[in-house]
Amino acid sequence: MMRGSHTLHFSVLSFFVTIWTVLSVPPQPPVRCDQTGCTVSNAYGTWPDRQNCHAANVTYPTTEEELRKAVAYAAEHNLKVKTVTKFSHTIPKLACPSGSDAMLISTSKYNSVIEIEPDRLTVTADSGVSLRELIDKVEAAGFSIATSPYWEGVSIGGLISTGSHGSSWSGRGGSVHDHVLGISLVVPANSSEGFAKVVRLEGGKDDKLLNAAKVSLGVLGVISKVKLSIEKAFKRSMTYNFTSDVALEDIFVDHGRKFEFGDITWYPSRKTAVYRYDIRLPVNVSGKGVNDFIGFQSNPILVSKGVRALEKALESNKNEKGKCNTADTTLAYKKLTGNGLKNNGLLFTGYPVIGNQGKIQTSGSCLHSSSIRIDVSCAWDPRYNGLFFYETTAIFPVSRFRDFLLDVKKLRDLKPERLCGIDIYNGILIRFIKGSTAYLGQTEDSVVIDFNYYRADDALTPRLNEDVMEEMEQMAFIKHGAKPHWGKNRKVGFFGVKQKFGPNFDKFLGVKNKFDPKQMFSSEWSDEILFGREGSKYDGCALEGNCVCSEDRHCSPSKGYFCGQGLIYTQARVCRFSSAQVSLV
Ligand SMILES: Cc1cc2nc3c(=O)[nH]c(=O)nc-3n(C[C@H](O)[C@H](O)[C@H](O)COP(=O)(O)OP(=O)(O)OC[C@H]3O[C@@H](n4cnc5c(N)ncnc54)[C@H](O)[C@@H]3O)c2cc1C
Ligand SMILES: *[C@@H]1O[C@H](CO)[C@@H](O)[C@H](O)[C@H]1NC(C)=O
Ligand SMILES: *[C@@H]1O[C@H](CO)[C@@H](O)[C@H](O)[C@H]1NC(C)=O
Ligand SMILES: *[C@@H]1O[C@H](CO)[C@@H](O)[C@H](O)[C@H]1NC(C)=O
Ligand SMILES: *[C@@H]1O[C@H](CO)[C@@H](O)[C@H](O)[C@H]1NC(C)=O
Repeated sequence: MMRGSHTLHFSVLSFFVTIWTVLSVPPQPPVRCDQTGCTVSNAYGTWPDRQNCHAANVTYPTTEEELRKAVAYAAEHNLKVKTVTKFSHTIPKLACPSGSDAMLISTSKYNSVIEIEPDRLTVTADSGVSLRELIDKVEAAGFSIATSPYWEGVSIGGLISTGSHGSSWSGRGGSVHDHVLGISLVVPANSSEGFAKVVRLEGGKDDKLLNAAKVSLGVLGVISKVKLSIEKAFKRSMTYNFTSDVALEDIFVDHGRKFEFGDITWYPSRKTAVYRYDIRLPVNVSGKGVNDFIGFQSNPILVSKGVRALEKALESNKNEKGKCNTADTTLAYKKLTGNGLKNNGLLFTGYPVIGNQGKIQTSGSCLHSSSIRIDVSCAWDPRYNGLFFYETTAIFPVSRFRDFLLDVKKLRDLKPERLCGIDIYNGILIRFIKGSTAYLGQTEDSVVIDFNYYRADDALTPRLNEDVMEEMEQMAFIKHGAKPHWGKNRKVGFFGVKQKFGPNFDKFLGVKNKFDPKQMFSSEWSDEILFGREGSKYDGCALEGNCVCSEDRHCSPSKGYFCGQGLIYTQARVCRFSSAQVSLV
């Protein structure tokens, strides 16, 4: 996800940003236990359903044999299991196990081995290794990993499990799982095999198994090791062009084809598109640039709290104009600071910014801890009442994206101000990924969009212009057939997902039944996402994206939000504010 540091205090923020970028309070660990058991949370501290997730026990293997023993213990005792990581940055409740006697296997201490084979151009890492550590080791040996998500606070096992990606239509493409050459998986086994075994999937005759394991949502077993392809080290040259969004629908395909790592950030209310011109350069070109993306820098906790308080006030006053002013300020600040690019590692002095692949491909300086500063953190750290938002991420076949874009433009043109709530975060980030052989990946070249928007402190508070965001969500997932990113999204993004994957879905289930016939690694939570089932509707369910409304009570009639049809996509059903209608309850 990406979010903007929208702040009114430029001078204060830039002071902290330039002087204290790498020092901050590290995120809290996602698993916390006491005498009564454990709870697991995600990085935002709140699951989509706002309910806690419980387990009886957590174990922290450090070697593959300890990992095998942990799975064996669960299999022998018929326990449900989920793998959790040090980061837990996935938004949906995939990591939540069923039942009160379930066990968690954490990979947070399973991170000691990273092996590079220079002749074969591969790296093999324990699944708990962090993306940042993996990249640094590979680069130190004179190689690069060609793609990664933009956020470095993830583990290699966790990031491939949800299909995480950067942006590229070139080479093996922008999804990390398409760079995977092998996976070792620990799966349950029968008693004569010691209740658990390690299977090594290396392509060839295992192709089908590997295609299932590459993106597997944690439901096949525990990934022990991941082998990735690497390349000779290279550098990158980056330029952001802040310009108009005219003809965006005619430009995006060429842009994706022309720039190996290009992307586009579209601020629809501001009628602005920011084209990222991003290409590779030979490693001997000079440049020590760093991409310290502004949304992932440390923020003074007081600033994050202030930004949240302001956003809440604008929400409760239904102040569109205030949101648009914030969107303007944010965009101007991003332009001024090159979105966090730093030519010499310290300051932004102009384009292009040239640096090593490992310093450009991903960032997350708010993650790194320090004993000196205790008043800065990642802006969304749940301990400090900072930013709190939803993230919608939809993946379109290239051929469908133009029509979606034109629909959003039509919606925007009715009243641009209503989209300011998206533009105070990171607008609509448009990225490119290649067709994949992974069963739960994309079968064809695709375009991915991400947008963030305000989430209220409680589940029953409606949000300013939420109908517009709901219409965009339904346009993407229903009208234009987009698939969800498995690691992001509200529940509505997953409805009907099984059908969207067609025969590949059944191939995936076949492998799942082979590796985990007793469904040890499945839970009602992960089933809900994997099978995309819409549960029963309740009062207010549409407000949090847990249903599509069909009756007013699914919105908030008492607060003036009624279920109505979309403005452009009239089959959409959205919660819209109407001051004219009198409350029915
Ligand atoms: C700030 C932020 C920015 C992000 N940016 C991007 C981006 O640019 N691109 C993108 O694609 N995504 C992005 N994401 C999403 C993120 O990449 C995914 O959610 C990723 O899966 C998180 O990895 P993790 O290590 O935290 O795994 P977790 O969230 O802990 O786990 C994810 C799933 O994988 C399973 N799992 C984890 N490890 C293993 C293992 N060893 N074996 C078996 N199953 C396992 C878990 O059970 C769970 O089901 C972002 C998320 C955040 C919060
Ligand atoms: C927790 O799991 C371990 C196996 O890793 C087991 O030895 C221990 O008895 C379990 N504890 C509880 C309370 O279930
Ligand atoms: C255990 O699994 C092995 C290998 O799959 C198989 O040969 C054996 O018959 C199984 N034993 C039992 C008791 O099911
Ligand atoms: C930025 O984009 C505009 C519009 O597409 C184009 O005219 C201009 O030349 C671009 N600027 C740079 C520096 O490439
Ligand atoms: C970089 O190396 C290549 C050969 O690998 C050479 O042709 C080129 O001149 C070098 N460029 C610089 C800037 O040193």
